Amino acid sequence: LVASLEQVEQTYIMVKPDGVQRGLVGEIISRFERKGFKLTGLKLFQCPKELAEEHCKDLKTKSFYPTLIDYITSGPVVCMVWEGVGVVASARKLIGSTNPLQAEPGTIRGDLAVQTGRNVVHGSDSPENGKRETALWFKEGELCEWTPAQAPWLM
Ligand code: TYD
Repeated sequence: LVASLEQVEQTYIMVKPDGVQRGLVGEIISRFERKGFKLTGLKLFQCPKELAEEHCKDLKTKSFYPTLIDYITSGPVVCMVWEGVGVVASARKLIGSTNPLQAEPGTIRGDLAVQTGRNVVHGSDSPENGKRETALWFKEGELCEWTPAQAPWLM
């Protein structure tokens, strides 16, 4: 039952400005909490343009890139790091497809969003990007390594 350290992944999850403005922060956090993953980082943050650009650098050539940067920096976001075995792929499943109209009901985007450009939440797409994005959005000392007291049936 005990996961080895190598199996434990990290993913960077972010409630985007529309999710914050619409009062969906608690709802979104609770979906990851109830799934059984461990929260190791959490903050409300106004993202500077340079950070948004670095985070989205793989999308630089896309036509929607400028709109995406404006969107991400338009108001505070909630930055989170979640840890667990298989957390990267599982979080992507909980989040649902990029286009909320194609996201299955039961997923965050399927239940709570309509437009691709307002899809309320971000989740890393690979374990490598989970680490990269965590290091980008959180300073050392902002993350908390902890063992939940009632963890034995989760770990
Ligand atoms: P992408 O990494 O393809 O999707 P995901 O967020 O599901 O990993 O795209 C990043 C964000 O870019 C996406 O969440 C919303 C925005 N975007 C658009 O605004 N228009 C688009 O056509 C696409 C593909 C993405």
